[in-house]
Amino acid sequence: MHRKGRIEREFDIDAAKYISSLHFDKEILESVILVNITHVKLLEKIGVIPSDLAEKAERYLQEMLTKPPSLDDPRYEDVHMVIEAELTKYVPQIGASLALGKSRNDAVVTAIKLRLKERLLNFHECCITFCEALLRKALEESGTIFPVYTHLQRAAPATFGFVMHSYAIRLLKALQHVKMVYELVDESPLGSAAVAGTSVPLDREYASSLLGFSKVSQNALESTTSRDFIIEALSCLSIIALILSSLSEELVVFSSEEFGLIEFPEEFSATSSIMPQKRNPVVAEIARTKVSELLGLLTSVVMMGTRQVSGYNLDLQQITPKLWQAFEIMEETLHVMTKLIPNLKVNEDRCMAACSPPTGIVEVANHLSLKYGVPFRNAHAFAGRISKLMYEGGLNEASLQKTKAEFNIEAPLTLEDVMKLMEPIRVVYSYTTIGSANPELVKRAVEDSMMDLEEEKRWARNKRARLEFALNKLKGRD
Ligand code: ARG
Repeated sequence: MHRKGRIEREFDIDAAKYISSLHFDKEILESVILVNITHVKLLEKIGVIPSDLAEKAERYLQEMLTKPPSLDDPRYEDVHMVIEAELTKYVPQIGASLALGKSRNDAVVTAIKLRLKERLLNFHECCITFCEALLRKALEESGTIFPVYTHLQRAAPATFGFVMHSYAIRLLKALQHVKMVYELVDESPLGSAAVAGTSVPLDREYASSLLGFSKVSQNALESTTSRDFIIEALSCLSIIALILSSLSEELVVFSSEEFGLIEFPEEFSATSSIMPQKRNPVVAEIARTKVSELLGLLTSVVMMGTRQVSGYNLDLQQITPKLWQAFEIMEETLHVMTKLIPNLKVNEDRCMAACSPPTGIVEVANHLSLKYGVPFRNAHAFAGRISKLMYEGGLNEASLQKTKAEFNIEAPLTLEDVMKLMEPIRVVYSYTTIGSANPELVKRAVEDSMMDLEEEKRWARNKRARLEFALNKLKGRD
């Protein structure tokens, strides 16, 4: 259709379809239009197009934002060609100049970065909402006894709030990467042209500020070729997918009848088509596996970036949709998990049983060391023997005193003392170190995390305001 240059013959229609990005260009349609509005302004600024026509073109491009052109004809190759063709229909003089100093190579990466900034902010917001759900639950359950495991063996009494808070903290840490990726992406490649810059004296700083970027990229070859920022984004989404996966795995395992520590909410469970007694934790199963989908996307993107000499290659085009798919997956997952968390119920009897003696037996050893100066190794060996007796059902006052003598422990310690020391509520309130599962400390730590979350929100509000301020102007909506 619009092929000129060296090629004279019409492009084979199947080949055109095969190489076209139109079916996934919708995501960047608006950004591409904004890039074109900016470019018209740049050309006007250097006097190569008259102001009246520039204004007409801008207005027409702004209208396109609300009445987007169809992206159905593969002969156009991509959204850039569609926009140029559309503009040429209405303001031919400007349409004909639109590619002066601008290539699809710098235009596309500028549009991707612009859209990615918006998506990162939306994603950041989804994470914040999810994190709030975790923190609320953590506060609500800060005193609810819950066992924690190492090697999937009962390790220590803790609380469900403590466990929820651990996930909130993981998420808050991962959010730091989201912000880093935002900063990385926040630079304008526009004006890099095809690969080495251009002799057209475009004001790149002006373009960058019009598009709401905070700086200008510094090497045209790098900025048109590199998709490292997509790998960064996908890596950080994968970390968050992993966090959700661990949480989901715990929900699946702990809600099974074998563990029975939590009740998986009915609204998020499905039954079996044949075994009516089943209550399958299906939402958590799907959320658990999303990390694999994310890693699949990340792996494809890394592989697509290999075997390329730098400078734009069409391979790069195939990377872009993977990025948007990853955001879809993660936003959906976060949304449903945010709804699920408040509905989780702890089975307090089962948890209490799992935390009961000898789960907290290290406290007997700690007591002997702290209060009576018994060397910890000796106290540990003694406590180990006590736990063995308990498992075998042979612990009583007589066997306790006999074991004490055997380990040369002179401290006064009765069976009642031993049982009291391991009492789950006493154990959790006895924790004193920062970050421990003591309900009082967990409450304080959750409050600190809530403040961190407020800081996150401020960051996002600030970035969004800056971006929207710039883009609304370009859209003619200020
Ligand atoms: N559709 C392309 C993409 O998404 C735009 C850049 C095409 N550049 C080119 N020289 N063919 O990456």
